[in-house]
Amino acid sequence: MGRRGGSALLALGAALTACAWLLGSAAAAGEPGAAGMRRRRRLHQEDGISFEYHRYPELREALVSVWLQCPSVSRIYTVGRSFEGRELLVIELSDNPGEHEPGEPEFKYIGNMHGNEAVGRELLIFLAQYLCNEYQKGNETIINLIHNTRIHIMPSLNPDGFEKAASQPGELKDWFVGRSNAQGIDLNRNFPDLDRIVYVNEREGGPNNHLLKNLKKIVDQNTKLAPETKAVIHWIMDIPFVLSANLHGGDLVANYPYDETRSGSAHEYSPCPDDATFQSLARGYSSFNPAMSDPNRPPCRKNDDDSSFVDGTTNGGAWYSVPGGMQDFNYLSSNCFEITVELSCDKFPPEETLKSYWEDNKNSLINYLEQIHRGVKGFVRDLQGKPIANATISVEGIDHDITTAKDGDYWRLLVPGNYKLTASAPGFLAITKKVAVPYSPAVGVSNCCLI
Ligand SMILES: *[C@@H]1O[C@H](CO)[C@@H](O)[C@H](O)[C@H]1NC(C)=O
Ligand SMILES: *[C@@H]1O[C@H](CO)[C@@H](O)[C@H](O)[C@H]1NC(C)=O
Ligand SMILES: [Zn+2]
Repeated sequence: MGRRGGSALLALGAALTACAWLLGSAAAAGEPGAAGMRRRRRLHQEDGISFEYHRYPELREALVSVWLQCPSVSRIYTVGRSFEGRELLVIELSDNPGEHEPGEPEFKYIGNMHGNEAVGRELLIFLAQYLCNEYQKGNETIINLIHNTRIHIMPSLNPDGFEKAASQPGELKDWFVGRSNAQGIDLNRNFPDLDRIVYVNEREGGPNNHLLKNLKKIVDQNTKLAPETKAVIHWIMDIPFVLSANLHGGDLVANYPYDETRSGSAHEYSPCPDDATFQSLARGYSSFNPAMSDPNRPPCRKNDDDSSFVDGTTNGGAWYSVPGGMQDFNYLSSNCFEITVELSCDKFPPEETLKSYWEDNKNSLINYLEQIHRGVKGFVRDLQGKPIANATISVEGIDHDITTAKDGDYWRLLVPGNYKLTASAPGFLAITKKVAVPYSPAVGVSNCCLI
């Protein structure tokens, strides 16, 4: 949706400048320069996708090459730096890169938060290349996806950890080396523990959503938060993300909220108010991955307890309790629904297997992304047609509200069913509408006009 094109010459000029910027600062971060990149073997190259591990300079190079190939529908940006100064790079794919288009939902994939869990990092590089290739070939599915969605892909949230893991000699990597950031912080235990707040609110009354509202300062001043954590919190708060997945490794399952148990016990099914929707979203990933959804798959390790796994999905708390994770933070601080996908029994499998991981996950990655177009979407405006930002969208029977973005636009993910949706904003009378939601696409609901 939206404007296309721009002068090719301008785009190329901008691309070259930024290319020099991107490649230039690789040397500054103490990495081998362009010459070092030539060592790459490019064993399994296909359609511009090289099925190999990408070290930091190679990751940058791969993203730049996607961008040079598809400059009109992509953009590279950074959300901050790691502790050791590496950039937290994002490639955005959209028909209007760099801008939120009113009504168009925003999606993110994040990989490699645990630096030694390497498959997600590579799959996201391949995904960016695939989306660009298919767009150029005229693949209708991908063109529609890019025209109707703003897609953000961050292959690595922990580039320091990855370098540490990858620099171990030999193919067999230690199970833990490189998991944490360079300060030794486990990033997926480092987020403000909003689950504890919501569990108190459930007992004593209080909201289930947007819990960070009055805590933003506390985040900025909190010295216990890693720079990677702070950067991603700001990213989550600044962009109206609707759907997201955080890619990990070490098992094979799509995990959904809550991750932290209510009672504090190690294993306990911990549903959030959107349990039905999350189960469906998680299946939207697992069902397209033959290994993940195989009911007869033996556990990754003989003694693993997989008893909570259903169709390749699990509730986080039912598997094992994780306080301070990113997944629940997204749901409780913003409008974004996030799941955590475990992609592989091995955290850092042999390079030769990367292509088969791509083949097993390609359809899952695309299908999961397409689910952003489920549920209900619309705009909230006043009688003059002026958009109302920060209006509340609530659904009867689900104690979790969504808010409108700055153009009054909203997206409310829901499974099929009949719902009562209410739009409200301070100083206006609320309006309630009945809506029948099919599997997809999203139903447009006009909440015109609050008075
Ligand atoms: C277009 O992309 C979709 C989604 O990845 C894929 O399933 C389909 O096979 C592609 N179409 C062609 C003609 O390659
Ligand atoms: C929306 O609410 C947030 C948090 O309360 C506030 O910081 C922001 O300024 C509000 N935005 C608008 C446009 O009212
Ligand atoms: Zn992990």
